[in-house]
Amino acid sequence: MPKSALIVGASGDIGRTIATEMAANGWSLYLHYHQNQMRVTTLLKQLMRAYPQQDFFELQADLTQAGAVETLTAQLFQVDAVIYAAGATTYGLLPEISASALDHLWQVHVKAPILLMQQLQPKLAQSRLGRVVLIGSIYGGRGSALEVPYSTVKGAQSAFVNAYAQEVASLGITINVVAPGAVDTKMNDQFTPEERAAVAAEIPAGAFATPTQIAYWVLSLMAPAADYMTGQTLYVNGGWLK
Ligand SMILES: NC(=O)c1ccc[n+]([C@@H]2O[C@H](COP(=O)([O-])OP(=O)(O)OC[C@H]3O[C@@H](n4cnc5c(N)ncnc54)[C@H](OP(=O)(O)O)[C@@H]3O)[C@@H](O)[C@H]2O)c1
Repeated sequence: MPKSALIVGASGDIGRTIATEMAANGWSLYLHYHQNQMRVTTLLKQLMRAYPQQDFFELQADLTQAGAVETLTAQLFQVDAVIYAAGATTYGLLPEISASALDHLWQVHVKAPILLMQQLQPKLAQSRLGRVVLIGSIYGGRGSALEVPYSTVKGAQSAFVNAYAQEVASLGITINVVAPGAVDTKMNDQFTPEERAAVAAEIPAGAFATPTQIAYWVLSLMAPAADYMTGQTLYVNGGWLK
């Protein structure tokens, strides 16, 4: 039977690329979206055509809402891996950020993945090769002005993984953060071409990452032979900042 993964944020650019590559590696997938159902439905149809022996399902949830994680997990059967690629940022100086924006960042980046792990730990343990990857950020390691709350919750993802990895290693579950630098996705759409070029000029590798360059490391952590790598934050940043 193919192994099954939940991809939270499969409608996002990084999540969708990870989904495509995992399907090509034989995984059945639960594809989660929040608002962009069309993107996941299109992906689902492509994957069903390309890999008819595997199963693909779509699931909707706003992970800032109370009870959303429980509703999501109630729809899952076998789960051998969880990829958490949902998220968004809020720009501004700290005094300008509202309390509700802080709640939103905390809920999407920290509370929801922790609740997911509470719910899915038994299924991941049953797999004996349970794999969890959170898409964090370089800003969780070194921080960024104008994105202080986002940097804080990204750092919290790494802190969560450090601690939780120790509780579940004996169950055969690994949990890691893959922390990109700047990636060419719709999350960065609000920047002008000049602003993007200025950031790219600071990156030693000379460019934003592609989602494929991030997905590569997520896929590497899925391998059975990666079972001794846990509790880590892997910075995939072209040499930028950290
Ligand atoms: N792009 C970068 O430069 C970069 C760098 C470092 C880290 N990251 C991190 O990588 C992850 C993926 O980002 P991306 O670049 O792929 O961004 P993206 O294309 O904007 O995707 C964001 C994803 O998060 C989902 N999402 C947003 N709010 C949600 C909510 N309230 N409930 C549930 N899902 C929600 C979106 O769902 P819908 O689209 O369906 O609404 C979408 O699937 C994020 O955690 C981000 O912080 C990105």
